[in-house]
Amino acid sequence: MHQNIIPMLGAGTFRLKEQEAYQSVEMSLEAGYRHIDTAQIYDNESEVGKAIADSGIKRDDIFLVTKVWMSNFPRDRFRKSVEESLQKLRTQSVDLLLIHWPLRDDNPPMADYLESLKQVQEAGLTKHIGVSNFTVSQLEQAIDILGKDQILTNQIEVHPYLRNKKVTDCCQQNNIIVTAYMPFAYGKVLSDPLIQKIAQNHDATAAQVVLAWEREHGFVTIPSSTKRKNLDSNLLSKNVHLSANEVSEIDGLNQGFRLADPDFAPDWDI
Ligand SMILES: NC(=O)c1ccc[n+]([C@@H]2O[C@H](COP(=O)([O-])OP(=O)(O)OC[C@H]3O[C@@H](n4cnc5c(N)ncnc54)[C@H](OP(=O)(O)O)[C@@H]3O)[C@@H](O)[C@H]2O)c1
Repeated sequence: MHQNIIPMLGAGTFRLKEQEAYQSVEMSLEAGYRHIDTAQIYDNESEVGKAIADSGIKRDDIFLVTKVWMSNFPRDRFRKSVEESLQKLRTQSVDLLLIHWPLRDDNPPMADYLESLKQVQEAGLTKHIGVSNFTVSQLEQAIDILGKDQILTNQIEVHPYLRNKKVTDCCQQNNIIVTAYMPFAYGKVLSDPLIQKIAQNHDATAAQVVLAWEREHGFVTIPSSTKRKNLDSNLLSKNVHLSANEVSEIDGLNQGFRLADPDFAPDWDI
């Protein structure tokens, strides 16, 4: 089983550059986060690596995730790019390496870049492998290529305005952990009246309610923050327990509202 491998709450680093990235990771680790999410395209792996090294926390105690960018999918670039990431991250291996986005034009084909992913795992450059932004049909294809129980997670956008049920159900049926990115829809869901009402009833913040909702569904989640106060209070979401009725009320907010939808995105499951 794949449960309990990834710490349920991690710290995201998208958009954070240079000193802001360093400080966010530094504060996250001080606050108690032990799961850090970065990517080659975020252009902050060096700062993430330095913050981890400076923290004095044993590398083994941190679950570190990075993602291979699409331009590095060709065979002659894949491994080299991962080696560069490891160098920037100041580590021999990451805990989880993800394919950041599937390719719309299948060039190179999925079998090709998933084979490269498997090879870097076999070479010890990553403990686990996974994917991100994969749809149901792409997950099925990936399972056909890699075999069952090889994909640890599918990292996808999930928040109260985008429940993303088809693909999250597919993940859970196939023993693939859902990692929910943009849990706050970059802040938009935090002013929702229903979420605020539930927060008031629990004497909690809207952000804590959203993180508790993700957890009640069994989803790992990776909010980002540049503020120690928010990082601390997000961690305390572990003390917020929602009733089944509250979870389904929040499910009812779904409106298919998607933030991460670049022109290279796949044809999403609706
Ligand atoms: N795989 C992918 O393609 C993909 C795509 C997008 C994102 N991601 C990952 O998912 C992570 C999270 O997504 P995201 O950073 O875009 O969006 P997010 O986590 O939904 O929102 C981040 C925003 O929420 C605010 N915030 C955090 N905690 C708060 C709190 N307690 N109260 C009020 N506001 C709060 C932050 O502001 P402050 O800084 O002021 O706290 C920041 O503006 C990324 O950092 C990245 O690691 C992955």
